[in-house]
Amino acid sequence: DGGATGGGGAEAYPDQNITFVVPFSAGGPTDTVTRMIAEPMAAELGAKIVVQNVEGAGGTVGAGEVAQAEPDGYTVLMHHIGMSTAPALYQNLGYQPLEDFEMVGLVTEVPMTVVARKDFAPATLADLVAHVKANADKVTLANAGIGAASHLCGLLFQTAAGVKLQEVPYQGTGPALTDLVGGQVDFMCDQTTNTSGQISAGEVKAYAVTTPERVKSLPDLPTTAEAGLPQLQVSVWHGLYVPAGTPQQVVQRLSEALQVALADQGVIEQMAKLGTAPVPAEAATPQAHRAKLEEQLGTWAKVIADSGVEAS
Ligand code: MLT
Repeated sequence: DGGATGGGGAEAYPDQNITFVVPFSAGGPTDTVTRMIAEPMAAELGAKIVVQNVEGAGGTVGAGEVAQAEPDGYTVLMHHIGMSTAPALYQNLGYQPLEDFEMVGLVTEVPMTVVARKDFAPATLADLVAHVKANADKVTLANAGIGAASHLCGLLFQTAAGVKLQEVPYQGTGPALTDLVGGQVDFMCDQTTNTSGQISAGEVKAYAVTTPERVKSLPDLPTTAEAGLPQLQVSVWHGLYVPAGTPQQVVQRLSEALQVALADQGVIEQMAKLGTAPVPAEAATPQAHRAKLEEQLGTWAKVIADSGVEAS
């Protein structure tokens, strides 16, 4: 079937460049994680991997494009928890996560940080909750669009604080963080793979990490539980996908290359510096990834319904 899988078919896969689609802006956390694993995966596959940022609508534009792509293994999607929140937030999503994709494997699970512009008044997470309650109509909360991890974390924050804030959507939290450092927006919830550098440089104010334990690379940052907001717990799992119908042989080849990348010392060190780590090998299989997505679709459908947010 030479036509469906590039020049030489599934047996010869890969025999041309592979595109990794990132559904958010360059320079953000999803882009960062993708570029980390693309290098060792390309070496293992013996093919060039080109990272393409396809932005918009909280990651659903990029995911939708990959769902429609040729199922030949030459278009791969890197996505995260947003794959499991979008169905509850978008009425006309245009794809079904479990039906329109094959799972290649999970990549990493990234903690989130609550961060603000450095001259924002609240000093602690408790002060932040008090401040937003008293100034709900003035405070601005940045995110990467409805369904993004930053949007979801912002939703959990607002539910925990009992407040509804003005949200400022960006095409990714790369540009959102630039505006936060510039003082154009008040605060946001974003992944350590994006915020660690600016936190360490003192360019943003950091309140907490959203994981049960502190993050080794940000030892002074309390957890949300320590800081009095235990309900705000979320970490952003990432996975690789190809369009449904991609030959199993090709999925297997990509999955093997992913496993090599997750065991790569350079990847492990880069991730550790940014507050995260590769998932264990047994979690990086296509089967484990599918099970994770099935569980998360149910979990977030309920959380989003309970939060009162309507699908748009
Ligand atoms: C998000 O969901 O907030 C995205 O990860 C942001 C990004 O990767 O730019």
